[in-house]
Amino acid sequence: MNNLIISDCREQNLERIYELEINNSYNPWTKKMFMDEFANKSSFFKIANFQNNIIGFIIYRINIDEAEIMNLVIDAHCRNNGFGEKLLLYAVEDIKLLCANKIFLEVRDSNKAAIKLYTKNGFKKYNIRKNYYTVEDALLMKKIL
Ligand SMILES: CC(C)(COP(=O)(O)OP(=O)(O)OC[C@H]1O[C@@H](n2cnc3c(N)ncnc32)[C@H](O)[C@@H]1OP(=O)(O)O)[C@@H](O)C(=O)NCCC(=O)NCCS
Repeated sequence: MNNLIISDCREQNLERIYELEINNSYNPWTKKMFMDEFANKSSFFKIANFQNNIIGFIIYRINIDEAEIMNLVIDAHCRNNGFGEKLLLYAVEDIKLLCANKIFLEVRDSNKAAIKLYTKNGFKKYNIRKNYYTVEDALLMKKIL
């Protein structure tokens, strides 16, 4: 599917973003976390529109020459259409333009869909944080650009 439109998140989109987060994330961010991230000048917040609906988002931060993917969600009924990958690749290209040369992220050890998506797109596991999600480990992954 080609008609996914990716654009900057606006303040009026935050309610919808929060709804997507609550419905799709294992360990959802609070509203305050989204507001803080939105206000953070080092943070980049993109939304994915499909057929006039916001169906996903990605958030990444830049710290000098390093980037971190902070959050990525595609609504459950829109998954497996390549949308998550499109958002991720959009972020990777933007991160290159912003002059970072590596990207980090953390993912739950049992989140096979996300791990496969990241691995397919050149992210490699470099460490494990034991019990990071209380009962579960976090995989630390990175991609060198
Ligand atoms: C992870 C997530 C963003 C993937 O979004 P998506 O739009 O379904 O992913 P895509 O359709 O773009 O899939 C791209 C690749 O990811 C992998 N993938 C996606 N879903 C998968 C699944 N359920 N099982 C195995 N691999 C999967 C595949 O390698 C796929 O490529 P392929 O179809 O060519 O094999 C989505 O599952 C999601 O929002 N999950 C809940 C939130 C979350 O876990 N976010 C990540 C936090 S680190």
